[in-house]
Amino acid sequence: MSSALGVLRYERALTGPITLAHIDLPTNDFNSLPRLIDASPGSYLVGQENVWPVAAGRSHVGQVFPHASVDLGWNANAIHWMSENFAAVRDHGWAIFSRETEARRKVEDRLARHWIEFLSARSRELKPGGRLVCQFMARREHRHGFEYIADVFWASVEDACRDRIVDAGELMAMTAPSAGRSAEQARAPIAGS
Ligand SMILES: C[S@@+](CC[C@H](N)C(=O)[O-])C[C@H]1O[C@@H](n2cnc3c(N)ncnc32)[C@H](O)[C@@H]1O
Repeated sequence: MSSALGVLRYERALTGPITLAHIDLPTNDFNSLPRLIDASPGSYLVGQENVWPVAAGRSHVGQVFPHASVDLGWNANAIHWMSENFAAVRDHGWAIFSRETEARRKVEDRLARHWIEFLSARSRELKPGGRLVCQFMARREHRHGFEYIADVFWASVEDACRDRIVDAGELMAMTAPSAGRSAEQARAPIAGS
């Protein structure tokens, strides 16, 4: 954030107040964030003037800010999470690794729809010339990159199920609604624009 503020101040010559808004789901625990921003020696407020942090409990899948009001959007490690567990499976902790073709198809569809909705919302919010930086889980054509750890996790859940520590209902509730996008999937909505 300090680097982003530096860019806005010096490269874009923004001299006035800067509002820096933190967005997360309404269910997020926002308690620690303001304390960190106020008290941490590593806070982005250190050495800054006229910077105004705020937080909003809204989903980034929809529009959060007024039309053409944002200079710089930053989304870290969040857009690979889908808003609900819509494809619970009993054979893995991630539906994208399930043997159920239909579950995998649902994940791909939802990833694509979310990405388009997310980008559409940001395109309405950004000022002309505004920028968006997104960091999210990626994947290759045939590999996601976290198969090993995901399989080890699921083997331990199956052990817990066999030992009756976890029951069948709890097992179904353990499908994580997340998956990576390939470079092609990431480019799809903006290809040719
Ligand atoms: C792994 S954390 C990353 C947090 C932070 N951005 C970072 O880089 O440290 C993922 C965050 O994304 C949030 N998230 C998931 N889906 C979201 C959505 N639809 N809208 C806003 N935030 C969301 C989660 O609540 C969670 O706090």
